[in-house]
Amino acid sequence: MDNINLINRLSSEHNLSDSEFLKLITTSEYDAELFLAADKTRRENYKAAVYIRGLIEFTNYCKNDCFYCGIRCGNKKAVRYRLTRDDILMCCAEGYSLGFRTFVLQGGEDPYYTDDIMCEIVSSIRKNYPDCAITLSVGEKTRETYEKYFEAGANRYLLRHETALDEHYKKLHPNNMSLENRKKCLFELKKIGFQVGSGFMVGSPYQKPDNILADLRFLQELSPDMIGIGPYISHEDTPFKDKKSGSLELTIRLIAILRLMFPYALIPSTTALGTIHPEGRELGLKAGANVVMPNLSPVKVRKLYTLYDNKICTGEEAAQGNVKEH
Ligand code: 5AD
Repeated sequence: MDNINLINRLSSEHNLSDSEFLKLITTSEYDAELFLAADKTRRENYKAAVYIRGLIEFTNYCKNDCFYCGIRCGNKKAVRYRLTRDDILMCCAEGYSLGFRTFVLQGGEDPYYTDDIMCEIVSSIRKNYPDCAITLSVGEKTRETYEKYFEAGANRYLLRHETALDEHYKKLHPNNMSLENRKKCLFELKKIGFQVGSGFMVGSPYQKPDNILADLRFLQELSPDMIGIGPYISHEDTPFKDKKSGSLELTIRLIAILRLMFPYALIPSTTALGTIHPEGRELGLKAGANVVMPNLSPVKVRKLYTLYDNKICTGEEAAQGNVKEH
């Protein structure tokens, strides 16, 4: 009965006290009620809709050296690639014919793509596909650069905050990166008029329940349009190669909590979730997620965009595979 009261309150007030959130995060005892309530809230707001976003991973060069990420600049084993504007336009053409109306251009922080080059890519997509949304996910830039992207026709931006407490942020990133700047970028993107997505990794090294609570509180402050979370998965060529990966259980529990906190948010069931469990993405959708992001990148580069080991990238997670099933 108490379980139901707590979940009812989260459903109606979209908030709980710190200690209540910590209780929800750290035990499985509420899961059954939590998932039911999250699924109900998703249906009330979105009926049966699942939104499809075509993901184009256009460069795996990155100037950053995040300790968890397979495409960090320090990973000399990574085989690097870049897509040209024409390559990207071909991905969009394929996606468009498959029915996609949102293109997500994601890449490492690659200085090759100057503002001019990036804006030319964005404005070409905007010109060819005036009815589509263009989402960028290319990291921390100056406000001027974000403004140029927006003017060129981009309308959404994904930038996970990764973790909301400074002490933890420093354990995951080298000294030249700061949580302060990342948060600043997110608020600037919002001010410019982008629809903004943020989020964090679940089970990243050194993450404690307090960190997750801080992530939830930061998301309340930012109030993003989209919230992407996925389990941390170790990559063999990073300093964190021996660290444990995040769990399916905690990730879907957090998806459900986020759905109740943010009824209107777009919440993807991520590739990382599909990587740690064969039914991970389906379970995410049942626990309140409502977005999937099939891969539209050229098949030959998919395996090279390896943020973590064993990424699913040849089968039904791909754009082509999903459409065949319908
Ligand atoms: N495991 C899971 N997710 C990762 N990301 C980066 N490296 C990993 C990893 N090893 C996530 C980060 C980033 C997003 C694009 O991918 O949260 O923001």
